[in-house]
This record gives sequence, C-alpha cells and structure tokens, in this order.
Amino acid sequence: MDAGNLNKVGFLDVAIDPSLDIFDEIEKLKKEKKAIILAHYYQEPDIQDVADYIGDSLGLAQKAESTDAEVIVFAGVHFMAETAKILNPHKKVLLPDLRAGCSLSDSCPPPLFKAFKEKHPGHLVISYINCSAGIKALSDIICTSSNAQLIVESLPKDQKIIFAPDKNLGGYINKKTGRNMLLWNGACMVHEIFSLQKITKLKQRHPDAKLIAHPECEDAVLQIADFIGSTTQLLKYTEKSKDNTFIVATEAGILHKMQQNSPGKTFIAAPPDNACACNDCPHMKLNTLEKLYLCMKYGQPEIIMDEELRLAAKKPIDRMLSLSKKLGLTA
Ligand code: 13P
Ligand code: SF4
Repeated sequence: MDAGNLNKVGFLDVAIDPSLDIFDEIEKLKKEKKAIILAHYYQEPDIQDVADYIGDSLGLAQKAESTDAEVIVFAGVHFMAETAKILNPHKKVLLPDLRAGCSLSDSCPPPLFKAFKEKHPGHLVISYINCSAGIKALSDIICTSSNAQLIVESLPKDQKIIFAPDKNLGGYINKKTGRNMLLWNGACMVHEIFSLQKITKLKQRHPDAKLIAHPECEDAVLQIADFIGSTTQLLKYTEKSKDNTFIVATEAGILHKMQQNSPGKTFIAAPPDNACACNDCPHMKLNTLEKLYLCMKYGQPEIIMDEELRLAAKKPIDRMLSLSKKLGLTA
C-alpha cells in the first residue's frame, strides 16, 4: 500500500476483515513494528485501553522525548503528533486521522500572530502547547496546563509576556500569579461550551459533589470550581480525594480513566450549553480503534515536517522540557 491509498481527507479508508480481533492485531503490530501507542485522555475508551501510555500534553511530550520505540503512534490531535515529530525527526510518527486538528490551535494563525508580536516588542512569548509548529517557531517557551503557572513564576516579575493562544488559561495564570500577560484572543470550543446555569443546578442536586475544571474553561466556571488542573492533575485529584462524587468540567473522555482508577466513585460530566448534551472534542474523536489499527498496519498517515520549521519549533519545546525537569514535573 502507498500514499495513493490515503483517503483524500487524510485517513486510510480500507475495509477490515470483520473476523479479525483488532485488539490482538494491534498488540501483534506493536511488536512487529517496534511501535509505541501514546494516547491522550480524551481518546475513546478502546484506544485508551490499547495505549502503552496515556497522559496529558506534558506527559505525552515527555514520553515522546524519551521513548526508544521506532514508530510513535499518536492517538491525539495534530499538534500533539507534530510535537512528537519535532522531538523525533528520525522516527516515524503516525496519526490515525490527519484531520484531527484543534479549534484552539486554529484560533491562532501564524501570520496574524507574527503581526501581533511585532506590534508589542520587548515581550517574551509563552505559547500553550495547543498551537501549530508555526506558532511554536514564533515563541520563546512552550507550556502546558500542567506547568504554565510554574513556568511563568520562574520568570522575573517585571518581564513583559505575551501568552498565546488560550485567553482562558492565560487569564487564569494572570490571576494566580498577579502578572499582567498580554493575551491572544483564542479559546477551545469544548471548554467554552459548559453552561454555568446547568452546572449550578447540578451542584444543587448533588450538594456533596466537587466541581473540578480544566483551566481552558471560562472564568465564570473556574470561579465556582473546587479544584482546577490539567487532565492528569484532575485525575490524580479524584484518586486522592476523600470525596465520592465529582462534576467534571473538561472533555468527557477523561471519565473513562477516572472511573477505572476509582471504581467506587461517581463521575458526572459537566453539562454543556448545547442540545445534544455532548462535550466530546470532535477533533479528538476523529480517531477510532479501526483507524489506529490501519495506520499501524500500513504506516500512514505520517507526520512530515519541514526541517527549518522543525528546528525553530523545537527550541521553545526544549526550553519547556528542561524547565519542567528542573521544576520536578515528570510524567
Ligand atoms: P492537557 O491534557 O494538557 O490538560 O490539555 C487538555 C487539552 O485540551 C488537550 O487538547
Ligand atoms: Fe483542541 Fe479543545 Fe479539542 Fe483539546 S479539547 S484538542 S484544546 S479543541
């Protein structure tokens, strides 16, 4: 099979023998191809269950940096697989569906951001990892929701900073650190969809429940949250907490791991402000177990990068990874 079989929109559209046990086949392919499957918590449960490592964006970047596998199969979205490729130019990095993008990353096009940066000279640029390689190449340091606060605090108080692309995470870090970072006006479509009114009602119906939220949520939701953190931090909080019920304001995929790790506890997905009551990320959910199997079998779709762009985007990622190591933030 060659690239000609790649569906025009970016995934392999090949029929799979229905008698195959895809779980078994994926295990065989892992050995045969010396491949590792890295998955984000927002992937569907079947994908999480075949993954060798499941994590948040920081954990995934650290795992991608340290793996000795020959092939990295990235069950996540494009900017995550691209980050893995930036760190591993000589490895094959596969993404089951190349269309798996990110609304937050899309909210910050490099030419517009370059003009914004030029309008505000003298600023250091911190970019959330949820951005394209083009934005990374225009940045000084990358951060994730796990390390953003510590990275900002590691800089001198009078350092002028531009924070991109997430205005909600940036605003939250401004509040926590007392800084006044200049924020790019971007946001994640999933985390902006929660309904304050419905969450408030839910809290009234479950007075003992703790509301836990991702910092990509809007300020109004964060203000009433009992705990705020990255996906891994939210998961760890539910494992350690003595409480039994949690209203979870982030993408619903994380509930699978929360339930697996704390079987006796109750997890309620925070209600969004839409009619289908769904807070799934449409980009993350483009990956399926079938597409994962096909991409491992045929070695595509693959992330391919321009070398000059890769090198420019690597610098601020390396800075984040070494700062994280220094700060003791390991996956
Ligand atoms: P983290 O997994 O780093 O918390 O980020 C959440 C997210 O929106 C990933 O796309
Ligand atoms: Fe992007 Fe939001 Fe989806 Fe994460 S959940 S991939 S930030 S659109």
